[in-house]
Amino acid sequence: MTGPLQAGELVMMVDRKKRRYLTTIVPGGEFHTHAGAVLHDDLIGASEGCTVRSGRNSAFLVVRPTLADYVLKMKRGAQVIYPKDLGPILMHADIGPGCRVFESGLGSAALSMTMLRAGAVITGYELREDFANRAVKNIEQFLGAEALERYDVHIRTAYEPIDHGPFDRMVLDLPEPWNVVPHARDVLGDGGIILAYTPSILQATRFRAALTRHGFGLSETLEVMNRSWHIEPEQQAVRPDHRMVAHTGFLTTGRKLVTEPDDPTTPSPDSTRKTITADEEE
Ligand SMILES: C[S@@+](CC[C@H](N)C(=O)[O-])C[C@H]1O[C@@H](n2cnc3c(N)ncnc32)[C@H](O)[C@@H]1O
Repeated sequence: MTGPLQAGELVMMVDRKKRRYLTTIVPGGEFHTHAGAVLHDDLIGASEGCTVRSGRNSAFLVVRPTLADYVLKMKRGAQVIYPKDLGPILMHADIGPGCRVFESGLGSAALSMTMLRAGAVITGYELREDFANRAVKNIEQFLGAEALERYDVHIRTAYEPIDHGPFDRMVLDLPEPWNVVPHARDVLGDGGIILAYTPSILQATRFRAALTRHGFGLSETLEVMNRSWHIEPEQQAVRPDHRMVAHTGFLTTGRKLVTEPDDPTTPSPDSTRKTITADEEE
């Protein structure tokens, strides 16, 4: 992760206009852009954060890509989940080392990579073989072949009974997550978390209804707002950026309950969270 750049490593080059390019360093290789070629041999042994020049004397900053950089630049089969949502998914689905996760669909593996890097052990159901192959290639390129030992892929629908498990978590990014819920109870441990990422609030609403029907509670739905700022200290120019990614999708979570939702002696599992003041707590 640190130290001089080596052959075989993936690097990100950033030009004067902040355009970003990914390339893998190959001895004797060349990276071609409109601004001329950068020799890979100039990168081998160089420090991360250095500037190299192309044959036409254009400067490129060179760094190792972060996972967020990679997700935005990697080859895609399907639409990816963006970094602004990937981090919160880890937190809201409570993914950590050794966590047994059922994931569907896999798409281009942006979410898979995020969970694998957090230490999850994933069983993935994906409908399309070409997408599954792309997912595996992306994971291997960014995380290395070892990560694939924790990634068990099956080409099949998630809308029918699930033959694997048990799981601690279920994380869904497919068009009709409510069709997974009836089978989820059979493979998710008690108290386990199910999370669906949905572009539309109507999908989130239908997913919530299915969760309630099938004995899940403590459900929550949220969207993540991410506003970047333009800051130029010398010019005293400080303001929000003019553009932002205003909407991507909704995160909806629920937990598998073993209490009866209608039992008047237990707290309502889906009641709006109430803020408890210090006085009330005493
Ligand atoms: C938006 S993509 C997932 C993107 C992925 N989360 C990522 O971050 O790269 C949706 C995926 O769900 C898959 N899919 C759709 N219906 C499915 C089903 N019934 N069972 C399994 N996978 C399904 C699609 O083939 C597609 O790859």
